[in-house]
This record gives sequence, structure tokens and C-alpha cells, in this order.
Amino acid sequence: MKIISQIKLPVEREMELFEKKFFQSMSSKVALLNRITHYIVNRKGKQMRPMFVFLVAKLVSEGKVNERTYRGASVIELIHTATLVHDDVVDDSNRRRGFFSINALWKNKIAVLVGDYLLSKGLLLSIDNNDFDLLKIISVAVREMSEGELLQIEKARRLDITEDVYYDIIRQKTATLIAACCSLGAASVKPDSEEVESMRRFGELIGMAFQIKDDLFDYGEEKIGKPTGIDIKEQKMTLPLIYALNNSDKKEKAWVINSVKNHNKDKKRVKEVINFVKKKGGLEYATSQMIAFQKEALKILDQFPQSQYKESLELMVNYVIERKK
Ligand code: IPE
Ligand code: IPE
Ligand code: MG
Ligand code: MG
Repeated sequence: MKIISQIKLPVEREMELFEKKFFQSMSSKVALLNRITHYIVNRKGKQMRPMFVFLVAKLVSEGKVNERTYRGASVIELIHTATLVHDDVVDDSNRRRGFFSINALWKNKIAVLVGDYLLSKGLLLSIDNNDFDLLKIISVAVREMSEGELLQIEKARRLDITEDVYYDIIRQKTATLIAACCSLGAASVKPDSEEVESMRRFGELIGMAFQIKDDLFDYGEEKIGKPTGIDIKEQKMTLPLIYALNNSDKKEKAWVINSVKNHNKDKKRVKEVINFVKKKGGLEYATSQMIAFQKEALKILDQFPQSQYKESLELMVNYVIERKK
């Protein structure tokens, strides 16, 4: 059985119902919007975030979920989708999930508005049902994601990013949403419990590993459904490059910085930078840091008694770093 189907097994019914609710939650009277949301749901992603929501909820409550859990999962996936639609505008990227991105098909103007629409639909789903505790978790994540994306742009302009700032960026832009999945999953069934915080931390650690993996993909040539090799083009300095710079002499450093600053659209030069990073062991270093985050996350799970949900979450933690897309 495929690893992802195995992970899904204990939440299969929930995920099926979730998909229906998720689709309904996007509907609009505006025909153009409906066309676009149809396009989006027909090209669904891995749906890891809703899986985290359901698995964590079941982990902390001996297998029970409720309507709040379903709404929480929909809100998170709506917000995730909104940020991807916006992110592809920001990154000027024309592919997503193996197809054209929204901006590639409908242009930036429409993509910005569709992202806003999905974001507001998500927030309203919580508000209309008085899930204010969950809304708070989600709103913190939305704020952090925007800050993370902006911090990344600020650093891309100045090219002065350190390893610690890199961790701040990925914590904000990616890890907080996965942290929100896990704390919300727990809060949906056990509000104000200790597990809400320990699951938040668990999600944050996994989120860090998740984004390092995503950044490693950019250095590869595998088909992952979105472009690779675009980070340097966008002057985005990620962990492999930061490590390579930290282990370079003055001359090498100047060459790398000059390449990223002034030759980032030159494919041959970008390739040379990528090879330089590989030669310096940047990929191995990033992989080892990713594994360190993964191990920390597994430690938190250790505190829970054995169950099928715990087993699935352990598989999921491993899937995050071993996945092929
Ligand atoms: C992509 O997330 C955005 C990042 C935080 C790297 P996913 O890889 O979970 O995207 P989909 O939903 O499966 O397409
Ligand atoms: C992750 O950023 C997306 C968000 C957290 C909004 P990236 O730009 O690194 O992700 P991909 O590679 O486009 O999915
Ligand atoms: Mg981006
Ligand atoms: Mg991007």
C-alpha cells in the first residue's frame, strides 16, 4: 500500500466527508469565481494539513472528532490554498500541483482577488459558527505567514540572511500553519487542555522539517509538480546556500553574492551556483538539520500511548522528509 494511503487509513471517513465540505465552503454566486474554485479542487494537493487536524484530534480524544474539527480542517485548507495562490503571484511561478498556476491562467489581478476570497471564506466559516478559539489559532497563523513572506523578501533584497533568520522565516511562513493544524485539531475536541500546546510545538517542528525538504527540492531535478531551480532566480537564499556561504572564503562569497544579485536570471550561472552549493555539502547539511527537527517532533509523540493515530502520525513525520513531491 502507498505510504500516504496507510497514513490516511484511520481518518479515511473523515477525509472523504472533509472533501465534500471543503468544496462546498468555496461556493460563490460569481460564475468566474466558481470556475476558478472548480479548477482548484480538481487539482488537489497532498492534503497533509487536514490529515494532521483529524489525526491529532483523534490522538488526544481516543478517536473522536466533531463538527468543529471538520470546520477547522476546512478553514486551514482554505487558508493554505489562498496562500499558495498568492505565493505563486509573489514568486512569479507558473506551475502548481502539476498544472498551470492561477496567475498563469487568469493573471495576477484575478489571482490576488481569488486568494483574498478564499481567505475571507475561511475566516467566516469560523466566525459564523462561533469557533472563536479556533479562529484565534488560525488568525495568528495568517499574520505569521504574511510576516514570514515579507521577511523573506526583505532578506532577498539585502542578501544578508543568516541561518537563524532562515529559521525565523520558515517558522513563520510554513511551520506556523502546520502548528495551527495540530493545535486546532487538539483544541477542537479538548479545548484548553495541555495537549493543545504540546501539539502546537509538534506541528511547528514538523513544519520546519517540511519547509527544509521543500527547499531541498528546489536543488533537485525531480518532477514535483511545481518549478525547481527558481529560488536563486528569485534571490531566495535557503539553507543549502546559506551553509555553503558560511563555509566559503572571501573570494567565493563575493562570486556567489554577485551571481545571486546580478546574474540570477542567467540559467548557466544559476546552475554554477547550484553546483557550488552541492560541492560545499549544502544539501547534506540541510538534510541533517531537517532530520534534527524531525527527531524532536517524534520525541513529543513519544509521550502519547500507543494507538493507530499515533502510528499514523509517526508515519506522517517520516513521510514529510521522505516524500517525493
Ligand atoms: C506547499 O505546501 C507550500 C509549502 C509550505 C512548501 P504543500 O506541499 O503541502 O502543498 P500541496 O497542498 O500538497 O500542493
Ligand atoms: C511556501 O513558500 C508557501 C507559503 C508558505 C505561502 P515557497 O514559495 O517556498 O513554496 P512553494 O515552493 O512555492 O510551494
Ligand atoms: Mg514563496
Ligand atoms: Mg513559491
